[in-house]
Amino acid sequence: MTTPLIKAQAALETLQATRGNAFYPLYHLAPPAGWMNDPNGLIYHNGLYHAFYQHHPFDENWGPMHWGHATSRDMVRWEHQPIALAPGNEWDRDGCFSGSAVDDNGVLSLIYTGHIWLEGAGNDSAIRQVQCLATSEDGVHFTKQGVILTPPPGIMHFRDPKVWQQDGNWWMVLGARDQHDRGKVLLYRGNSLREWRLDRILTEADAGMGYMWECPDFFPLGNSQILMFSPQGIPAQGLKYQNLFQSGYLRGRWQPGEAFRLCQPFEEMDHGHDFYAPQSFVAADGRRIVMGWMDMWESPMPSKGEGWAGCLSLPREVCIMPNGKLYQNPVHELATLRTHEQLVLPCVLDKLNQRLLPDAQAVELEIAWECGQSTAERYGIRLGQGCELFVDAQARRLVLSRSYQDERLCGDRSVPLSENGDLHLRIFIDRSSIEVFVNQGEYCLSSRLYPRSGERQLELFASHGKALCRGGTLWQLNSL
Ligand code: FRU
Repeated sequence: MTTPLIKAQAALETLQATRGNAFYPLYHLAPPAGWMNDPNGLIYHNGLYHAFYQHHPFDENWGPMHWGHATSRDMVRWEHQPIALAPGNEWDRDGCFSGSAVDDNGVLSLIYTGHIWLEGAGNDSAIRQVQCLATSEDGVHFTKQGVILTPPPGIMHFRDPKVWQQDGNWWMVLGARDQHDRGKVLLYRGNSLREWRLDRILTEADAGMGYMWECPDFFPLGNSQILMFSPQGIPAQGLKYQNLFQSGYLRGRWQPGEAFRLCQPFEEMDHGHDFYAPQSFVAADGRRIVMGWMDMWESPMPSKGEGWAGCLSLPREVCIMPNGKLYQNPVHELATLRTHEQLVLPCVLDKLNQRLLPDAQAVELEIAWECGQSTAERYGIRLGQGCELFVDAQARRLVLSRSYQDERLCGDRSVPLSENGDLHLRIFIDRSSIEVFVNQGEYCLSSRLYPRSGERQLELFASHGKALCRGGTLWQLNSL
């Protein structure tokens, strides 16, 4: 008998044979072919990092969700593994939706949402979602164990379990939408991975804060407790919440058995065009790492023309600063990708652009760049014709601007400059992405880029005045 998993793997291999390359990342995790969205089940287990992800192996569009799987020794170089979960049982017939992984007494265990359309695919108002378990002895092949938790009365959207162990109990946060279209996070307590009871509603949306909260994660960081989640339905407010859907965090205090006491209102995790559904995990040495889906629902994805869509962000180490802000920095393991190093000497930028690399060679790069005094109205870095990262002196903001033929891919995202005017940037460029870490992790902007071939010139520019570039370093990266 051909099982759904065997069928899915065969379809993926056929699709992979035809996958195109121009946009396929060289050091970010993307599906071998087909579609990817949320990271799932991020975990360090038995000496390996595992990244599972929402995956459709039959084509480049979202469809019945499978769990793709990759492993890594360093969070940087990933190796694809066989598909871990395929839908097809009565409780997950139409999709194995997002979830998490834990080590249950040495057994790698996946907790995911089984999804069923009750009245035809795509009808969001008639669905059934339950939480399910799958286990593995070898970390590669998973056996489904069935349903472990059904929704409370009146809740239909009930998904994305994040599970952890603390003080002798299992804990689970779940994203939910209630009858009044109010997003919330439910907290469950478990005696085992199979027996759960509702502890409390951890928190829920105030007016304007979303009709559904997806992909919650709840973890300690310094003296704080962070609730990270991805709300749907927050309207843009001035320069905030510019993307269709957000991802962000609430900072508070929490102990098992207590209420979550909020210290700080909702803050966005990332200020670029493409970042959603982030999840965290603990690295081998105890660092808290976050990875997100570096795309946005309903955005055009030109890589679909190459038979694939979706990639994950770089892994970022997160920490809480004394002012309560969450900082994010690329993991230090990324430095092992650096090969050729080129210094950018201090210089004054004016009307003449300074080319940083010979023509069209900006493909896999890390750039560290220090900006100084400026009289220019705008100055920054340009990649090809479609992407500029610049300081807007009048608005006092750092802007990541995208302009491509497809209007839906165009637009600016920005963050404020610091009071003292310091600006230190770390920029990672891959074949179809840019990630910008500002001032040692104070802000982060992640966006997908789609330069056409021959349009990968990288240059510094300034307009209407002069800008001092204090210098920097540029590294070619090599993922092999
Ligand atoms: C978030 C999400 C999750 C769901 C999954 C389905 O991007 O909508 O809530 O489990 O994607 O693919």
